[in-house]
Amino acid sequence: MKILVIGATGYIGSRAAAALAAAGHDVSALRRAGGRPLAGGYREVAGDLLDPPSLTALAAGYDLVVHAAAPLGEADLPGARALVDSGSPLLYTTGAAVLGGGQSDEDSPTDPHPLAADRPEIERRVVAAGGRVIRPGMVYGTPDAPIPALLASRGHAFHIGPPGVRWPVVHVDDLADLYLAVTERAPSGTIWHGVSETARLDEVASAICGGAAVPWPVEEAAKELGLLADLFTRDQDVSSEKTRRLLGWSPRHTSVLAAVTRS
Ligand SMILES: NC(=O)c1ccc[n+]([C@@H]2O[C@H](COP(=O)([O-])OP(=O)(O)OC[C@H]3O[C@@H](n4cnc5c(N)ncnc54)[C@H](OP(=O)(O)O)[C@@H]3O)[C@@H](O)[C@H]2O)c1
Repeated sequence: MKILVIGATGYIGSRAAAALAAAGHDVSALRRAGGRPLAGGYREVAGDLLDPPSLTALAAGYDLVVHAAAPLGEADLPGARALVDSGSPLLYTTGAAVLGGGQSDEDSPTDPHPLAADRPEIERRVVAAGGRVIRPGMVYGTPDAPIPALLASRGHAFHIGPPGVRWPVVHVDDLADLYLAVTERAPSGTIWHGVSETARLDEVASAICGGAAVPWPVEEAAKELGLLADLFTRDQDVSSEKTRRLLGWSPRHTSVLAAVTRS
């Protein structure tokens, strides 16, 4: 397939693009002015998600456009609209933050955290246009993974809100396999969960940093992390049973604690 990847320099998108290319797909990648250089030898397409009018034309004519890019926030929805208007089938990345607290699965109603307020509307538009959506949990795999790096950034383990808050998680290589599975096997107009297990954030932080996690009051954390601080207080148990069953996706990495524990 002729595929354009947006976010191919990012943590998720770089692995997804590599998995698609390794499977024989013809991968092009968007690069914004001043953005990081692309690895992988992909055909380079100049563009910027902050310039939606240009996106419609540059994303036209592909068998698939994979979106695995920031930014969240007010630029997200106009960019998604422009990509839908391109007429190319879309594979869009949102995240578990579109779901509420407690138990949920691929068919649960959305209840987005304010950080992801626009994303249910994006999902509806992508699905209505016949596209597909992947909702990853917290991605880990290497020390530079964005959330694990944040958990390590204070030099000691911390938790925001009560101890024991759980998040869905996934290893970046398993997530890349899911992008390939969705690309090759998922019907149009569908939503998939990139989640291999549910993990306690305080235990992940302790495994990364060593030592017990100490509380970081949400009001103080918000001064540094903004809305993300409150997301750290949202306890989620997100199933990917349907994704595994229907796509035959079988994550190989099943213990985030083992993966991030300092040796
Ligand atoms: N990481 C996680 O744990 C996680 C979990 C759930 C959902 N997600 C979602 O997955 C997506 C990717 O996350 P990530 O962690 O891989 O992010 P990341 O490592 O920060 O990568 C972001 C990518 O977006 C690109 N980008 C940023 N602004 C852009 C713009 N204006 N125009 C074009 N490209 C732009 C970046 O390109 P440059 O190289 O030019 O900066 C980079 O390729 C995000 O939507 C995020 O919300 C992530």
